Amino acid sequence: MAQVSLEGITRQFDRVTAIEDITFKIPDRAFWVLVGPSGCGKSTVLRTIAGLESITRGELYIGNKLVNDIPARQRDVAMVFQNYALYPHLTVADNLAFGLKMRRENTQEIARKVQEVSRTLDIEHLLKRKPKQLSGGQQQRVALGRAIARQPQVFLLDEPLSNLDAQLRDDTRAELKQLHQRVGITTVYVTHDQVEAMSLADQIVVLADGRVQQIGSPQTIYANPVNSMVAGFIGNPPMNILPAAYDGESLIIFKNQGIKLDSALKQQLKLVNGSFKLGIRPEHITLKSSSAQDHEDWLLLEADLIEPLGRETLVKAIAPECNLGLNLLTDADWQGKKGDRLEVKFDLEQLFIFDANSGLTLNT
Ligand SMILES: Nc1ncnc2c1ncn2[C@@H]1O[C@H](COP(=O)(O)OP(=O)(O)OP(=O)(O)O)[C@@H](O)[C@H]1O
Ligand SMILES: [Mg+2]
Repeated sequence: MAQVSLEGITRQFDRVTAIEDITFKIPDRAFWVLVGPSGCGKSTVLRTIAGLESITRGELYIGNKLVNDIPARQRDVAMVFQNYALYPHLTVADNLAFGLKMRRENTQEIARKVQEVSRTLDIEHLLKRKPKQLSGGQQQRVALGRAIARQPQVFLLDEPLSNLDAQLRDDTRAELKQLHQRVGITTVYVTHDQVEAMSLADQIVVLADGRVQQIGSPQTIYANPVNSMVAGFIGNPPMNILPAAYDGESLIIFKNQGIKLDSALKQQLKLVNGSFKLGIRPEHITLKSSSAQDHEDWLLLEADLIEPLGRETLVKAIAPECNLGLNLLTDADWQGKKGDRLEVKFDLEQLFIFDANSGLTLNT
């Protein structure tokens, strides 16, 4: 087990810079998740740590050892790919044992480890089968098992659950977390699924365009995103991000609807030069109930799309005057329908202000 440290790692392919100046240090035994949209460089970071990709600039340490020039097989890391990459001609048992045989461990010890891992992952009954006789989820477990059996210093997982159906993905995700709690191997996990990132990570690294946007605990990234990219990417359904203006008293959105501000927000907006955007999460928008006080100023919208999610209802509402809209969450038993006139209110404590050009969060 070991810490993993990236210092200014850049990887260029001819003219494409896949990742640029990536710096972070993953402590020993931690579970970190790299998350970001497709093409942002997640796999490149992981492959760089694994030694499958060379480093154009920067330094990579596993433990205290500089490994830039150490080949993949000597790094003592195990990587699990999205497409499993099992050896098709070997049985499950032989797949699990493969890394151990390569290391010339003794036969009894190998058998013991294969038993232990297969019990953990509930694949004992599959040991004699070949990969093509397994379902996708079973193959995925074998691929994980093969990596676990080696007990590497570092575990690298690249979207390992994306081929599984929803139920199996949830189950395997929970198992992975428990497994990590038990064996404590330093783990770097790549996904584009922010729910997976939130539920698994000690720390999340959000990447975009080959660069680190933010590093923090799931709670921090959710509550204090540093920019509109992170704010819009983490959270489901995503944060609403709307063009807005300030007239000295109120925020103006949807062409001419005003939101009266408290003095703290006014102070912050006074300092904003130039145009900005407003961010508000769907769960921080309230729909007016029949018993609500009328003297408060409510925004006027129209229900456009209604999605019952079971525990709550997602309503997509638009401002007819400008065709801009937002998502809000309301009670599961909400009875509205498309075309209904809605009055909504933002929780002022939960507003974000983003610079329209840089996207940086301007309020804290
Ligand atoms: N061998 C290569 N040659 C040229 N460009 C590459 C190569 N490998 C990756 N890239 C580019 O580097 C960028 C990052 O790719 P990477 O595979 O790391 O993204 P990713 O975040 O893993 O995306 P996804 O979620 O789709 O898997 C992309 O723009 C990609 O096209
Ligand atoms: Mg990838």
